[in-house]
Amino acid sequence: MDLRGCIFDLDGVIVDTAKYHFMAWRRLAKELGFIFTLEDNEALKGVSRMASLEILLSKGNIHVTEKEKEELAARKNGWYVEFISGMKPDEILPGSVKFLKTLRKEGILTAIGSASKNAGTILDGIGLREMFDVIIDGNKISKAKPDPEVFLRGAQEMMLSPSQCIVFEDAQAGIEAAIAGGMKCVGVGSLELLGRADLVIPDLKKITLKQLRNL
Ligand code: BG6
Ligand code: MG
Repeated sequence: MDLRGCIFDLDGVIVDTAKYHFMAWRRLAKELGFIFTLEDNEALKGVSRMASLEILLSKGNIHVTEKEKEELAARKNGWYVEFISGMKPDEILPGSVKFLKTLRKEGILTAIGSASKNAGTILDGIGLREMFDVIIDGNKISKAKPDPEVFLRGAQEMMLSPSQCIVFEDAQAGIEAAIAGGMKCVGVGSLELLGRADLVIPDLKKITLKQLRNL
């Protein structure tokens, strides 16, 4: 393919924030009187804050008003923001910085395509904001993954067509979003979960441009 841009999901691809999301959701579930497991958490990856809350509430068989939902989501986010406020560059996932530098050196544009409204805080905390030409986060979009809006906006702001972009994702919802947007996608994680991607790699440590251009 004629590779011109790479769009990265943030949580779970560039930085290991999935554990903080999980810690905050698990705490909320505990307050609501049920156990939320690491396995349950898989369905929340890549999914927006409110959609995640809906999944969690249905797991606990809990019914609340819209107003209470807003309050619960805000409570979870308060804890999450507290957890990420101390993030340091050593929480960047292995291989990410080197790979981003290689792309930029080759003139390939880089973008963030994240569902998170906290993406800016995280990028500033780990000092990676400058590595991305375009940042599309949860504050800029109205439709959550698996809708392709976040990635299509990323391509558009890089002034590229979807066929010139590759998406890097750790979540099933994100892989579906890339496919729906007509983009090639690389799953970062386990083959078992991300098998619908064009290529699945465990992390960004060994990926080469040759591999990507062959997609
Ligand atoms: C995604 C995460 O990147 O962002 C999800 O994978 C999370 O787990 C979503 O729910 C929204 O994040 P935030 O920070 O806006 O609550
Ligand atoms: Mg993710």
